[in-house]
Amino acid sequence: MDNRPVGVFDSGLGGLTAFKELAALLPQEDIVYFGDTGRVPYGSRSRDTIVKYARQDIAFLQSKNVKMILAACGTVSSVAGPAGEHFGDLLQVPFVGVLRPTAREAATATRNGRIGVLGTAATIRSGSYQKELAAINPDLQVFAQDCPLFVPLVESGFVQPGDPITRLTVERYLEPMKAAGVDTLILGCTHYPIIAPVISQVMGDGVTLINSGREAARFCTALLAEKGLVAHRDRKARGARHFYVSDRTEGFSSIAGIFLGEDVQGEVSYVDIDRY
Ligand code: DGL
Repeated sequence: MDNRPVGVFDSGLGGLTAFKELAALLPQEDIVYFGDTGRVPYGSRSRDTIVKYARQDIAFLQSKNVKMILAACGTVSSVAGPAGEHFGDLLQVPFVGVLRPTAREAATATRNGRIGVLGTAATIRSGSYQKELAAINPDLQVFAQDCPLFVPLVESGFVQPGDPITRLTVERYLEPMKAAGVDTLILGCTHYPIIAPVISQVMGDGVTLINSGREAARFCTALLAEKGLVAHRDRKARGARHFYVSDRTEGFSSIAGIFLGEDVQGEVSYVDIDRY
């Protein structure tokens, strides 16, 4: 039993797709979310910069006395190593990234052995999903595509299924996936589930989409139980939610509402992340 909060972070608001899943699975847990909105996107940056930012994000969450850290960011997870090995010197608590649980789910879901991976430029360049999937089953064929326009579209609210700009962009990026005949498509960036309906329409019914935020939240839930870290509270008690951002807090609530599918419940505060 451990009543400390779970820490979740992302470069911006995309990680809220994982937060939402986690909050639904663990209503009694306190959760601290950090969105690095002052420095988003991470996916177009160098590995060194992503590592530097992620280390600050982890240090900040650890200053909030969290009991576990969920990197709800495909980009950070891809440079971290499956269990956060590259942050090993800094980590005081267990670390969960999106990579391993997502790859496992995709390998289980595929029927024809052809898996597509969509992610940021840094995620795809790292080859992380390709390596993880090959380690699970070397016979899998993996097709990867970076989608640099998806994050700005989502963060700017171009998310309605009928939006022509988003639809055209999705069609352009997914052409190679359709040509490759994948039957399973990993949404390797936590922003992408927000436009999953458009991605699904373009790919067609026979293709299973794997939501990396959801898989990571499920894995995190199982790990808390396995390590005996689940909070002990009255059954009806609801855990506290605290959101931190590194840029304006005004406006957070309306955009965050799109990710959460409901109004933000909980406090929203600014943090000067450069201090960490
Ligand atoms: N949500 C992030 C991811 O899962 C990154 C978006 C970005 O900062 O480029 O990769």
